[in-house]
Amino acid sequence: MPAALDLPARVEAAAAALKRATKETPKVGVVLGSGLGAFAEALEGKKAVPYAKVPHFPRPAVAGHGGRVVFGRCEGVALAVLEGRAHYYEGHPLEDATLPIRALAALGAKALLLTNAAGGIRSDLRPGDLMVIVDHLNLLGANPLRGPHDERLGTRFVDLTSAYDPGLIEILRAAAHACSFEVRRGVYAAMAGPSYETPAEIRMLRTMGADAVGMSTVPEVIVARQCGQRVAAISAITNPAAGMSGRPLSHEEVLESGRKVADRLTRLLQTAIPQVAAL
Ligand code: HPA
Repeated sequence: MPAALDLPARVEAAAAALKRATKETPKVGVVLGSGLGAFAEALEGKKAVPYAKVPHFPRPAVAGHGGRVVFGRCEGVALAVLEGRAHYYEGHPLEDATLPIRALAALGAKALLLTNAAGGIRSDLRPGDLMVIVDHLNLLGANPLRGPHDERLGTRFVDLTSAYDPGLIEILRAAAHACSFEVRRGVYAAMAGPSYETPAEIRMLRTMGADAVGMSTVPEVIVARQCGQRVAAISAITNPAAGMSGRPLSHEEVLESGRKVADRLTRLLQTAIPQVAAL
């Protein structure tokens, strides 16, 4: 049996396959979370590649995650959009789950905009709100950079002091304002899932400084920073976190609320992207 390819070789193979699908160099990468796929539909000159056709890409399994790379233009800016993501709770090692992020960086995307669905912990965060992430708590109990290191991937000890780019945060704030709504700002806590949190865990997270909670995004941010990308992330608040509403949580509710904010999220991204590309 041939020896397994190392991570840089797998990234290279994935990027090479994607390059054959598009003539353009994507300037910005976008990741769309649960129920937030609407943005990709609005791209000009779309070309979609199923993850199954890209070597070494993980296969996301959860309902609401398409599992395709969509190339296209938004306000004239060439994008590569990851529609759907592989989550840690599906059993993917984080190194595999984040390989698509490395592939977009290898294609030339210098900035990455991530989106997710999240439960609101801070009392002013309501379903339908958009929260620009300013910092995170990695409570996954895992890190995507763990394991043998290869200098070709970037630095071993990645600085996360300004992981969420202050310039991009300001662009998103101003873009929302131009769209006649306000975005909130807050700290995102990543939990491993797939069970939702207990009310006691939500109280713990609040004490730790978390404003919203979800099961994704953080590994992608860490990897994108290792790749030298500028990163911004937006949480669509889909539900009050466990114990805050007196009602049980359900994935259907998360998807349904996600679809309701997808319009505003799409407008926000469309307004921000030309400036993100120019930064
Ligand atoms: N907890 C964790 N992940 C989530 C939630 C939540 O309340 N809502 C959407 N994703």
